[in-house]
Formats: sequence, structure tokens, C-alpha cells
Amino acid sequence: MKKICIIGAGRVGESTAQIIAKEELCREVALLDITEGVPQGIALDIQQSASLLRFDTRVVGDTDPAVMRDADMVIITAGFPRKPGMSRSDVLEANLTIIDGLVDHVLEYAPDAMLMMVTNPVDVLTWRAWQRTGWPRHRVFGQSGALDTARMTSFIALETGYSIKDISALVLGGHGDAMVPLPRFTDISGIPIEHFLDDDTIEQIAERTRQGGGEILALKKHSSAYDSPAAAIASMVDAIGHNRRRILPCVSVLQGEYGQNDIAMGVPAVLDENGLVKIIELKLNERERKDFERSADMVRHDIGLLP
Ligand code: LAC
Repeated sequence: MKKICIIGAGRVGESTAQIIAKEELCREVALLDITEGVPQGIALDIQQSASLLRFDTRVVGDTDPAVMRDADMVIITAGFPRKPGMSRSDVLEANLTIIDGLVDHVLEYAPDAMLMMVTNPVDVLTWRAWQRTGWPRHRVFGQSGALDTARMTSFIALETGYSIKDISALVLGGHGDAMVPLPRFTDISGIPIEHFLDDDTIEQIAERTRQGGGEILALKKHSSAYDSPAAAIASMVDAIGHNRRRILPCVSVLQGEYGQNDIAMGVPAVLDENGLVKIIELKLNERERKDFERSADMVRHDIGLLP
């Protein structure tokens, strides 16, 4: 990719820009934010790390939405983060207006881009952005499952003491308290997780995963997580930019898959140079299906609140 625009120069946006620049996932990173000086200053700061971290990526920042002109990918991180005690749905109303305006800018300046939604509630806002753009769903998707799965993976590594490199986990559903960690699709070097951990411990890990964002928010109080969300975004950008055809859980618009319509939520999907090109439908067992449907009901409830 030649150019990636990151909208929102908050902590998630800044960390994402750093990783993308450092990993040289594109030629130019453009940061857009509404506070004059902030995106410019952050861009300059990251740019000045280039000789030390050895990257050639150009980083620019601006408050003018024209900075996203002709971007190959636009990543939306802008909006109000939740405060301790709030759910991701609690910020819907405030963030909806922001996102609608930003999507209109994307339509004007980067009409051929891919759009990755990160702002919460991410499932609902991905759905909204998809509708508002009128683009095919392979070009409009969201980040949540890569992060939730990374959290589950790290808890398993901490619990078992085994290398995180050998652990493969999977979390589906909406990015909320009803997300669906799937121990049945979780293994260490191909060996099912049940071989290493008893049911209670697995359930504790699943629950800690569901509350993963909230745990960090409660500890930090004034900021949500941003290092791991940024790394999750970068993993999706890397899969797309390098045409890797990775299978990652992503917020996808569903058109009949998993028995769902008129919704966007987390499912395993194939990412390549054209975006989110394929949804993988798993055969869920009774309990997994029920959990998935419960999560879908919560996302659908919030979609129903959209004006
Ligand atoms: C989290 C927020 C960013 O999960 O949704 O940390």
C-alpha cells in the first residue's frame, strides 16, 4: 500500500501510526485529527524516530480532511473512549455523529479506499459505515477479534507457561461483554487446549478475555487499552498489505453467514490485498451457537437504536 490514513490522533491512533511506520506497511502514513497541532506534532515526533528505528515511511499529520486524499486504506480510531463503568454501547450516540461526518470525508477524498473501523461500539459503527458508504463489504470492516483473540492467547500463555508463538485461539461475536471465546478452536501446537487446562481454568480465561478491555480501563482509569489494539490493527494491515491471505477474526457485514443478516460482527475472515474477501463459516455446537446468537442480539439491539 502507498498511503494509509489514520483518523484520530489519540492513543490508539498514535500507537497504530508508530507500528505501521516502523514496520513499513505503507509508504506514507497520514494522521488526521481535529485539534490543531496535535496530528502535526505526533507525525513529526514519529518521523524523527525514523533514523533510530530504521524506517523510510513518511508520516504527516493535519486537521484538514484532504490529508486522506487517495489513501489506499483509512482507519477510523476517532471518537470518545468509554470511561470506567461504561459499556462500549454507552458511547454510541456520541460517536455516531463523529463517524457519519468522517465517513462523508472518506467518500469525498478516498472513494477507492478500504475502510477499517476501530471506534466503539465497533460492530455497530462498522455496520453504519458500510451502509453509509454503499461500498461492497470486502472494503468496509472492523477490528476487534484480532485484539480479543490476542488477549485470550496471552492469558493462555501466562497460565500454561508455554510459548505464545505456539498458541492459536479464536474469539468471535460482538466486541462486548457477550463476545464468544471458542476454546474448542484453541490449541497449543495443534494440541487442544483441554489437554493443558481444566474446564474451570478455561472458563476463567474466557471470562477474563470478555472483560479484557474493561480490566485495563479499570486499572488505568483515564485511558482505554491502546498498545494491544494498535498491534491488532497493524496485524490486519500487514495481512492486507502483504496479500497474506491470513484468517483473522474481523468485524464483517454478514449476509446470511452464521444465519445472520443486517448486522456486522466478529467472524473469521480471509484478508488479502482486496480486503476482507471471504468469511469462514464454522460449524458451531449448540452452546457456541447460542452464545453467538446472544452476542448478535446485543449488537442488533444497538443497530436498532441508529436513527
Ligand atoms: C478494548 C477497547 C479499545 O477492548 O474496546 O480495549
